[in-house]
Amino acid sequence: MLRTHYCGDLRKEYTGNLVTVCGWVDRIRNLGGLLFIDLRDREGIVQISIPTGELTAKAETIGREYVIRVDGRISVRPNPNPKLSTGEIEIIASNLEILSTADTPPYELDEPNISEELRLKYRYFDLRRQELARNLRLRSKAATIVRNYFDELGFVEVETPVLMRSTPEGARDYIVPSRIHHGSFYALPQSPQQYKQLLMVAGMDRYYQIVKCFRDEDLRADRQPEFTQIDVEMSFVEQDDVLVVGEEMIRKILRTIANYELPTIGRMTYAEAMMRFGSDKPDLRFGMEIETVTELFHNCGFKGFDDVISATGHVAGIKIPGAASASRKVTDGWQDAAKKLGLAGVVTFKKTAEGVTSSIGKFLTPETIAAVEHHFAMSEGDLVALAANISSKLYPALGTLRLQWAREFNQIDRSKWAALWVTDFPLLEWDEEGKRWSAMHHPFTSPNNPSEFVELVNSGGDLSNVTAKAYDIVLNGNEIGGGSIRNHRPDVQQAMFQAIGMSEEQAKNKFGFFLEALTYGTPPHGGIAFGWDRIVALLCGCDNIRDVIAFPKTTAASSLMDGCPSSVSPEQLSELGIKVVE
Ligand code: AMO
Repeated sequence: MLRTHYCGDLRKEYTGNLVTVCGWVDRIRNLGGLLFIDLRDREGIVQISIPTGELTAKAETIGREYVIRVDGRISVRPNPNPKLSTGEIEIIASNLEILSTADTPPYELDEPNISEELRLKYRYFDLRRQELARNLRLRSKAATIVRNYFDELGFVEVETPVLMRSTPEGARDYIVPSRIHHGSFYALPQSPQQYKQLLMVAGMDRYYQIVKCFRDEDLRADRQPEFTQIDVEMSFVEQDDVLVVGEEMIRKILRTIANYELPTIGRMTYAEAMMRFGSDKPDLRFGMEIETVTELFHNCGFKGFDDVISATGHVAGIKIPGAASASRKVTDGWQDAAKKLGLAGVVTFKKTAEGVTSSIGKFLTPETIAAVEHHFAMSEGDLVALAANISSKLYPALGTLRLQWAREFNQIDRSKWAALWVTDFPLLEWDEEGKRWSAMHHPFTSPNNPSEFVELVNSGGDLSNVTAKAYDIVLNGNEIGGGSIRNHRPDVQQAMFQAIGMSEEQAKNKFGFFLEALTYGTPPHGGIAFGWDRIVALLCGCDNIRDVIAFPKTTAASSLMDGCPSSVSPEQLSELGIKVVE
């Protein structure tokens, strides 16, 4: 080893010891001949003091981010620096070696307001920031907890192919052309869904994998084109068995990493979550539930509500604590937000020392206003915002506003962890564009009642109310995982393909191998996949999963560092039998 210690590990106990450290030059200060170097490695920073003498000339040639090696004796600092973990000591250098020089860095590591583009272009440099390095180390530690956890429970980690046939997770595939079979393509896995099910057919019984998945979809703060799942599948289980295993994994991670003991995770059906929170991933760190109050407004005199109610629509809204002081400008801004979400607007009821006033007060009787006050148990300072709509847009729109208002009025306790299982998702969702049903989770998901479903499909019945043995796990308003019990009966799987408008021929063409596999003896099975990047981001307190990924892509799915995607040579294209259309 070139060193005896990490810079950041040195403490007062080492006083008098001779040590050798290596690292990057964080800062150099020249105090009239006396030189101080802050030397940084992954554990932290230590101060090196260069006594005036023979080392001075060499030290003076050193620049920022040079890689150096220093021998020296630990000494107590006359002026300790409480900001550094090593701040009580310094190393009095006796020897100094330059291991690598460095060009002027693209920016200074601790400089604020550096654009994300620049940081991503020089990612290897940006990763020298303690904060990012800490995230990657936490990620590694958490992955070890996961591996040990599944190993102890008898799960086998199996690697599944990266070059495969297209999977139907709902996003676009990344495809890879075949050189040997011109015109044929591999797809990169959107998830190992079919493989893990085939492993159950194979008798593996309990599988997990920390695995890269690839989806060509619109990217956001919590979505990357390539991301990592903790993928799990189990045989001879029911929904509860999968939830218990998944829940305990999250508990173990939170216990070890965040020192937090997660209580039993509550469960809520999808329908209930949508009604109460307008979202299938409700953030339960705060209340502000959506209340449906249609019955308070029958023939209320306000046309906006009366028209909606007579067209069998609903009036619903949220109490925002402390929002009665919101200015007109602020509440006007909500109208625009509401309109963007497809609502006509929001009406407000504010309770102040003078009582309750409403933005539609002139249309309403005092009784109606009192009924709102009573229903929402309004206290002084509260504001109730209501909206009416005939379509099912009402609840998701209020769900979005709920989050906006919670942030605006500081209702989110960021020190809290709030987890939830959302269950009984609809099996199918209507695809307006394609005018057909599509699988809400994926087409291998079992309906809650398989036999009834097969009958319904065969008789051409209404499929809109069919629910599934599908579940998501939500942490602080983030969907951190999802899974389902699968169709192990070929007839149910066939009915599912039929329901989503796939003919027998098409299903056979796309999933023939898979359907055939189900016919050779398939155990009842189910599983879940966790979004690992999202979990790690929550543990690190990051808002963007990019900050927990070593080499992430931009929202335009490119890597600014290595410049991909990029064009390839005409020779490569011709070998693949591909012509690019300009
Ligand atoms: P699903 O599609 O719900 O399920 O994915 C599981 C979890 O993966 C995370 N996730 C993502 N994270 C970052 N970037 C993305 N683009 C991205 N897409 C999804 C989410 C999500 O909850 N095969 C099924 C699982 C199963 O049925 O067992 C699947 O992939 O946190």
